[in-house]
Amino acid sequence: MTGIEKDPNFSATNPSLIRNFSVIAHVDHGKTTLTDCFLRQTGLMRSDQAVRVLDSNPIEVERGITIKLAPVRMSYSTSILGQTETYTLNLIDTPGHVDFGYEVSRSLAACEGVVLVVDATQGIQAQTLSNFAKARDLGLTIIPVVNKIDLPSADVETVVLELMELCQVEEDRILLVSAKTGHNTQSILDEVVRLVPPPTGKIDQNLRALLITSYFDPHKGAIGLVRVVDGQLLARAKLQFLSSQQTFFPLEVGVYTPFMSARDSLSAGEVGYVATGLKDVRQVRVGDTLTLASANLAQTPPIPGFREPTPMVFTELYPVDSGDFTDLQDAMSKLVLRDAAITHTGVHSAALGSGFRVGFLGLLHAEVVLERLQQEFNLAIIATPPSVTYLVKMENGSELKIEAPSQFPDPSLIVSVSEPLAETLIITPPQYVGECTQMIQEHRGELTNTQSVGHALQLTATIPLAELIQQFHDQLKSRTSGYASFDYEMAGYQVEDIQKVTILLNHEPVDALSFLCPESQVEARGRSMVDKLHKSLKRQMFEVAIQAAVGGRIIARETIRPFRKDVTAKLYGGDRTRRMKLLAKQAKGKKKMKMIGKVEIDQQTFLAILKR
Ligand code: GTP
Repeated sequence: MTGIEKDPNFSATNPSLIRNFSVIAHVDHGKTTLTDCFLRQTGLMRSDQAVRVLDSNPIEVERGITIKLAPVRMSYSTSILGQTETYTLNLIDTPGHVDFGYEVSRSLAACEGVVLVVDATQGIQAQTLSNFAKARDLGLTIIPVVNKIDLPSADVETVVLELMELCQVEEDRILLVSAKTGHNTQSILDEVVRLVPPPTGKIDQNLRALLITSYFDPHKGAIGLVRVVDGQLLARAKLQFLSSQQTFFPLEVGVYTPFMSARDSLSAGEVGYVATGLKDVRQVRVGDTLTLASANLAQTPPIPGFREPTPMVFTELYPVDSGDFTDLQDAMSKLVLRDAAITHTGVHSAALGSGFRVGFLGLLHAEVVLERLQQEFNLAIIATPPSVTYLVKMENGSELKIEAPSQFPDPSLIVSVSEPLAETLIITPPQYVGECTQMIQEHRGELTNTQSVGHALQLTATIPLAELIQQFHDQLKSRTSGYASFDYEMAGYQVEDIQKVTILLNHEPVDALSFLCPESQVEARGRSMVDKLHKSLKRQMFEVAIQAAVGGRIIARETIRPFRKDVTAKLYGGDRTRRMKLLAKQAKGKKKMKMIGKVEIDQQTFLAILKR
């Protein structure tokens, strides 16, 4: 459904009639349903159309989680400012997950206002607050909306009070709507026109366009979604990115209505796309500035706020069958062309052979990519437990960045190790405050602030990132019956006594099972890994010693007794062919096994062991 229409008569939209805005909401508070209402009200979607048009939009829809939608251009006529005028409303989506915080900030930087949606049955949640803070810090106009007022369990009065306090506005500024029935949703568009300022860029200046996000299209290459800040982006001019210095002739320039619709140009204040034809999205980086290849760079300052994507979570990937390494290599090189936020370097493990160390923005990002590798590329892979980046100060004055246990240097040469911290925001109903504070403590966190947000409490805590990536989300949900929510931002590094726990199978260290952890957890986690291996490993033909060690010191040990599985035992007599067939079958079964030294482990066991 990506039909292209050419509009030869298209001329630049008067910037005073443009409004660029975003909808921010906690997960499931109704952002998609509300967006569909807007599309119906502006005639982009028929009223009987039940499909969520935006979900079929080209950008990442994975595991039912919409990571991000394309910006939609809507025409909306209203007389809210006196005369009836037709306005161009660009609705720019923001990703709904903590992993993509930097993209959220760039999407918001492309807007002048946001619609802040809160579910009337849930009230303000963690993501509502963190997105609100980002919008406020960028100086955006905020339009508070209470959604789902049609539900019997809606507590409109309480949520209105929460929003009045958060946004510091009077009650009459808060819109009460139902995205499901469409009740009062049109007044949101009127408020966008009335309150969100039009863009201020100058059309007669050098082209500067902000790259909001990018994705890969098999026919048109990397497609950049842009907000033109100044000047004009012509479909026929050679362009360049200021940071990556990549130049190209665009294949196509256009807007989403919500499908791709080609235009001759986009001018100051407009939002649309540029099909670059580039085969590698890494040259089309979020936050970069797009300008003319012929521009005088001294007069074309980059749009502030650009930074390289920073991977936060690392894992090593190995093919289950070492013979599949080239397939994994092939899949990785295809993936990184499509996802600029993935980093990868080749690694070799004595136990697992050749593989890759891969960096992700967060756990969800990692899960999505791993699922893709297995399904799209049909690869059986082993992923080591996620790890964070440690900074290690060495005695010789150098500083190392450690992304995996195998890189951890000899402890006798280390002066100090620092681990990354996350400023964490937890929103919870009062009855679960005890559970939440206990969880913060258990995860080595420090509670720094508690304040009330309407009927709920907001806890701010500094928690090591390594703790947050270990099932923190699932635990919080189960310990608070699903009521608490959390969000986090990176908050620097802190010195911690980090040690490497090495796991040995028959006295051979296994990198993939070894891990880094604070001294206080060494004993418990070493013991738990040994126990897990002891339970999961099948008996082998020989005795297997399982050990956990820190430096030369063994902290836990178990032994698996030998067992001989003679598949030919039940055959007596001399049927040689049957005997050979059975042995061949057994050999084939073995191929699915991973050999670690002499010990064989199948993929399921490995996954069970690696799951904490
Ligand atoms: P994510 O894309 O997962 O972040 O969710 P979202 O914020 O886009 O929420 P979505 O629009 O998918 O709505 C979540 C659920 O709430 C869906 O089942 C909707 O049908 C329902 N919903 C949304 N708005 C309303 C409303 O006004 N009233 C009622 N009763 N249900 C609503």
